[in-house]
Amino acid sequence: MDHIRLAPLQNRNTNNGFKIISFVPIFDLVAIVITAKMGKYMKKRRNIVFVAKSLDGFIADKNGGLDWLQSTPNPDQIDMGYEKFIGGIDAIVMGRNTFETVCSFDIEWPYSKPVFVMSRTLDSLPKKYQNNASLVKGSITEILSELEQKGYTSLYIDGGTTVQSFLKEDLIDEMIITTIPILLGGGIPLFSELPRELEFEHVRSELFLKEIVQDHYRRKKVN
Ligand SMILES: NC(=O)c1ccc[n+]([C@@H]2O[C@H](COP(=O)([O-])OP(=O)(O)OC[C@H]3O[C@@H](n4cnc5c(N)ncnc54)[C@H](OP(=O)(O)O)[C@@H]3O)[C@@H](O)[C@H]2O)c1
Repeated sequence: MDHIRLAPLQNRNTNNGFKIISFVPIFDLVAIVITAKMGKYMKKRRNIVFVAKSLDGFIADKNGGLDWLQSTPNPDQIDMGYEKFIGGIDAIVMGRNTFETVCSFDIEWPYSKPVFVMSRTLDSLPKKYQNNASLVKGSITEILSELEQKGYTSLYIDGGTTVQSFLKEDLIDEMIITTIPILLGGGIPLFSELPRELEFEHVRSELFLKEIVQDHYRRKKVN
């Protein structure tokens, strides 16, 4: 993003129209202000959920299991937009339980972006994962400010309780929810009670493998 944000200032002395304003301080000032505002707009915070749920709204089964995610045959292993989504975010913020679930898989570290783990109970992450993830503490707004200062503004928010705690503070901007056509009958819920209603607008829906629906919603702006 930085190269886009700084482009007008970098080009001021080239022959593309910005040359004029470099000799007129007041216009220069206006250009700087506009550029700063554009930068702020382009670096606007976005907290996004990308999650799979059952028809009855659970993200893990009664035993915390995820086998049901594979209940629809996917012979070509299509990723349902995951890589594209990951490519568009700066970092991942996940709850301790999701972190521990990922650590329990016998696989290489699966994330290509920085991972921040929220926990009130942990004092540090296991040594084995200290190069892969960082522990973050404090209120959600404190954590978001800390991450913003580090340049992470487009965040993937993951984990049931974690998503719910962001929603309680109206801090989720987008939700991409993939619904697997199965009733689990119980488990870890995606949503919980909120202090008030939150309206979202529909962005798009996609059908994968003839039976998995992915819905993208954006928080309606409140005037
Ligand atoms: N279907 C999917 O797409 C999907 C996606 C992600 C996860 N999952 C599954 O969902 C399960 C995990 O979800 P979950 O709801 O149990 O837990 P979670 O959100 O992953 O983790 C909850 C923990 O995160 C910490 N936390 C959350 N909000 C916090 C806050 N505001 N401030 C400080 N700490 C906070 C707390 O840790 P402490 O207790 O240490 O304070 C809390 O106990 C796993 O089974 C995982 O596999 C499924």
